[in-house]
Amino acid sequence: MWSSNAIVLALLLLVGHVLGQSCPGYSSFSQMRNPPLSTGAYKLAYQRPSPECRTFNSSLVEDALSGLKDEIYDVDLYRLFENTYPNTLDTAVKWRGVAANNSEEELAFIITGDIDAMWIRDSANQIAPYKMVLKNSTDKLASVFRGVINLQARYLIISPYCNSFQPPPESGISPAQNGGIYSVTPPYDRNIVFTCNFELDDFGGFLQLSHDYYTATGDADFFGKFQWIEAVQSVLAASEAMRAATYGPDGKWIKPAYTFQSQTMSASGTLANNGVGMPVNYTGMARSPFRPSDDSALFDFSIPANMMLSRYLDATAAIMDQLPNAPKGLAGQMRDMATEIRDGISHWGVVKAPSGKQVFAYEVDGFGGQNLMDDANIPSLLSAPFLGYLDKNDTVYRNTRDFILGRSNPWWCEGPYINAVGSPHVRPDAAWPMAAIMRAMTSDDDMEIITAIKEILRSTDGLGLIHESVNSFDTSDWTRQWFTWANGLFGQMIMDLADRKPHLLKESFQPFFIEKD
Ligand SMILES: *[C@@H]1O[C@H](CO)[C@@H](O)[C@H](O)[C@H]1NC(C)=O
Ligand SMILES: *[C@@H]1O[C@H](CO)[C@@H](O)[C@H](O)[C@H]1NC(C)=O
Ligand SMILES: *[C@@H]1O[C@H](CO)[C@@H](O)[C@H](O)[C@H]1NC(C)=O
Ligand SMILES: *[C@@H]1O[C@H](CO)[C@@H](O)[C@H](O)[C@H]1NC(C)=O
Ligand SMILES: *[C@@H]1O[C@H](CO)[C@@H](O)[C@H](O)[C@H]1NC(C)=O
Repeated sequence: MWSSNAIVLALLLLVGHVLGQSCPGYSSFSQMRNPPLSTGAYKLAYQRPSPECRTFNSSLVEDALSGLKDEIYDVDLYRLFENTYPNTLDTAVKWRGVAANNSEEELAFIITGDIDAMWIRDSANQIAPYKMVLKNSTDKLASVFRGVINLQARYLIISPYCNSFQPPPESGISPAQNGGIYSVTPPYDRNIVFTCNFELDDFGGFLQLSHDYYTATGDADFFGKFQWIEAVQSVLAASEAMRAATYGPDGKWIKPAYTFQSQTMSASGTLANNGVGMPVNYTGMARSPFRPSDDSALFDFSIPANMMLSRYLDATAAIMDQLPNAPKGLAGQMRDMATEIRDGISHWGVVKAPSGKQVFAYEVDGFGGQNLMDDANIPSLLSAPFLGYLDKNDTVYRNTRDFILGRSNPWWCEGPYINAVGSPHVRPDAAWPMAAIMRAMTSDDDMEIITAIKEILRSTDGLGLIHESVNSFDTSDWTRQWFTWANGLFGQMIMDLADRKPHLLKESFQPFFIEKD
């Protein structure tokens, strides 16, 4: 339904456009059904900003969009692809430039959406989908990858325990206001850090993006030029500190390296036990007091975040091997930690489900405590093959997948419109399209992929963008209008299907009946 507010806003935008005024904010633009609508049953809006309002132009991405125009049969599916794949470049590249003390060092500041702050995890995932079109280090798209990696490296050296950051001083953009009341160790500078939730997948995200850039371009030299080696050392040191057990050999409590308390109404917005979290035993894994949803964990050893870290420490050790200026033994240290984490996952993370089958737990504590669930945010258990940690056919993964994609998972959301994993970050019944995308990306079964895509396509409320969550029973009830990570992931899924299963893009994804608009 069009509200009168939306109509007034649309008129203002039209007038603004005619008068050549400044670009509309994407927060409001993304909530309107901008014309022209697609000609399928879903009548999806065209949500790309007009060319002069886009934050980065890439001919490689434009070529990918036009290249698939004739390959995708369903007009609504094409519209969703065309809106989503470029969304990060279109809307979230807030600033690009070079470091004040080194004009060779590119920097790129990428916002998650309506907050002018850069999340390590989000920015890694926001840029990753463009690896599908990146072929060498000379295209200007490669400079965005390098800019993000360099800025993440700077942040991870300064405050490795923090997760979202302020614009670099070079940008001239003022730090965003964060009025939250926090007590955190180690302390941090609010002019540099926006929030300081320690989330292990930030390390995985940084290393994953490094691996993506290296794999696409073969450019190893880049990693020896600026602060990447030092950032990896910082990541290793913090991971090492976060492996420590709660009790020392003499039985005495050892205060953890990281503590966090905040004044909040939400139980998942702070850490239990006065900010130190629940006790853990030594497992070889590293703690992640916060989840990839920014919610606090029940038990600190996140299996998916450790899978991601293990996989990408191992993968990026191959970059470190090639750097003449890397300290001796550093690549070996990365591989050792990767192996020890993998062993910890096999030993502590594989548990017996109520069905009697062996599955991966979502979180454990090394004392036998285990949390059986999955959360939509990536890294999730569902995403384990996507992370490259294991093969889709792995028996424990197959069992885990059966567990996750059904009522046995407390965060499974099922209803007439969309069936997907949700997250305690929102509420029960709020399915996350991101998890439906991940289901399709980790499946070889054509029917399962088609069903997931149909559900995603009917879940956008006519807006033609991927929302954070959608009520399984009411698609007009959704959260976050501008979630560029999820948009990019949808685009990546289509690009992946174009390679892996092009015949699926020839299918119709139209509903059997015409939906009311
Ligand atoms: C993108 O291209 C349009 C012209 O098509 C231009 O107006 C705009 O300034 C460009 N954006 C950037 C960030 O260069
Ligand atoms: C350059 O500046 C960054 C950020 O202020 C700092 O972290 C880094 O150590 C500096 N590098 C050199 C070589 O001085
Ligand atoms: C790098 O990639 C771009 C875009 O794909 C292409 O135009 C260019 O020729 C390539 N350069 C080299 C050196 O391969
Ligand atoms: C704690 O971990 C140690 C070794 O890592 C193990 O020997 C011990 O059994 C664990 N404790 C419990 C209660 O599981
Ligand atoms: C996985 O299983 C499928 C069907 O059982 C089979 O076709 C495929 O070759 C297997 N893949 C691997 C990597 O073993």
